[in-house]
Amino acid sequence: MSKIEIRYQRLSDAKRFFEIINNPNFIYLDIRVKSIEDERLFLSKNKERRKSNFAYNYTITLNKKVVGSIGIKINQHRPYIGEIGYFIDEAYWGQGITTKAVKLVEEIGFKKLNLKRIEVIMDPKNKASEKVAIKNNYKKEGLMKKFIIKENSYQDALLYAKVL
Ligand SMILES: CC(C)(COP(=O)(O)OP(=O)(O)OC[C@H]1O[C@@H](n2cnc3c(N)ncnc32)[C@H](O)[C@@H]1OP(=O)(O)O)[C@@H](O)C(=O)NCCC(=O)NCCS
Repeated sequence: MSKIEIRYQRLSDAKRFFEIINNPNFIYLDIRVKSIEDERLFLSKNKERRKSNFAYNYTITLNKKVVGSIGIKINQHRPYIGEIGYFIDEAYWGQGITTKAVKLVEEIGFKKLNLKRIEVIMDPKNKASEKVAIKNNYKKEGLMKKFIIKENSYQDALLYAKVL
């Protein structure tokens, strides 16, 4: 039986995240990391991000093996709103891992972080990400015009949300 869990990210996850993220097939993910050292630096700031109620980042594990990442970013103007973001190693796509991880992190968001509203935002072409939101019963609220800046142009994004 495969077991999907989430836990706080560790500095020792840096090498795996670096490998997972630097995948040319991650066309809808804006994050690019230059080196394992840069990834370690990013991870080293997670504690501070939690302390300042800015973001809560988790490692997704499958039978204790690192397969991806999921986090909730808190809206700094409206701290009752969080936004979930995620990525999974391509070798593990299509197994329902992110769908389950969203359930786990959403529970933290609503029960521990006292959020009233959780959003998932994606490129309209990112069908896998949209499906993850739909499978978790997030409701489509619309298309946000010129929401993302990518390669020097403003692009639209889909907004999905769940409210308590
Ligand atoms: C988006 C992502 C995290 C999904 O992870 P995952 O673990 O494969 O997701 P799940 O298996 O839980 O669900 C994906 C669903 O999308 C479906 N799907 C995948 N590609 C699809 C496509 N091109 N069109 C329609 N559906 C698609 C899968 O079949 C699956 O649905 P199913 O369970 O009904 O078969 C993963 O593709 C990824 O890491 N992508 C790169 C990073 C990224 O884009 N992150 C999101 C930024 S908003």
